Amino acid sequence: QSNRINIAIDGPAGAGKSTVARMVARALQYVYVDTGAMYRAVTLKVLESGLSTDDNASVGRLANELDIVLLPGAHSQEVHVNGVDVSSRLRSLEINRNVSYVARLESVRNRMAELQRRMAQVKGVVMDGRDIGTHVLPNAELKVFLTASSRERATRRYREIGSDADITLEQLEKEISERDRLDQEREIAPLLQASDARLIDSTGRTVDEVVEEIVQWGLAIARTISAEEK
Ligand code: CDP
Ligand code: CDP
Repeated sequence: QSNRINIAIDGPAGAGKSTVARMVARALQYVYVDTGAMYRAVTLKVLESGLSTDDNASVGRLANELDIVLLPGAHSQEVHVNGVDVSSRLRSLEINRNVSYVARLESVRNRMAELQRRMAQVKGVVMDGRDIGTHVLPNAELKVFLTASSRERATRRYREIGSDADITLEQLEKEISERDRLDQEREIAPLLQASDARLIDSTGRTVDEVVEEIVQWGLAIARTISAEEK
């Protein structure tokens, strides 16, 4: 049995992070942590409470009181906030449109990073997000920056929500680009490829190919670490 490592997967919206991270975790029997779901859960609570998304102090107080628990679900991860399963409410257009504003706040980022580091204390975690390799887990043994062309990312998302949704592919692509811009340009822990992250452009590649590549990297790194310790 080789050592367990932590794997950080970052990248823009629709690159395939959650899909790939979940499958990598399953293959390695690791724990998957979806940090985007945590920012979405905070955003849900901010919208419910009527707070302004730029009120750093009030939103920070709210975030500090939230007990966010991630549980492995049948298809995706279940997110429980103060004991209530909110998973089915996290992917609405309204949350998509507000989450990057909430995620800009220093109070929120500090709180989320603290919770995320705690979740990764016992190694064997695959964590996906925007700032995992650069900020949350700078010592992760494997860092991947996963991307794809913006048209392909929007098309993937469009397929997921179904063409009966209240948005066109063009609008969706615009909204995704706007969210990426906000995530890249924010001051604290912006979306950025860590200097020691391996880049995967998944445009035109299958999920299985990408998963296999990451799993093989992970196994090789874990073996090297085990060998060095002997
Ligand atoms: O699934 P999708 O890529 O659309 O988004 P997500 O991973 O659920 O993340 C939603 C939003 O949360 C992002 O657009 C960021 O604004 C924020 N986020 C972040 O700031 N830092 C993270 N580590 C993860 C997400
Ligand atoms: O988490 P992130 O926003 O990066 O992406 P996602 O929620 O995993 O969505 C990516 C979508 O593209 C899923 O429907 C995947 O099945 C699909 N896809 C992929 O992830 N990777 C590929 N190489 C091809 C398609």
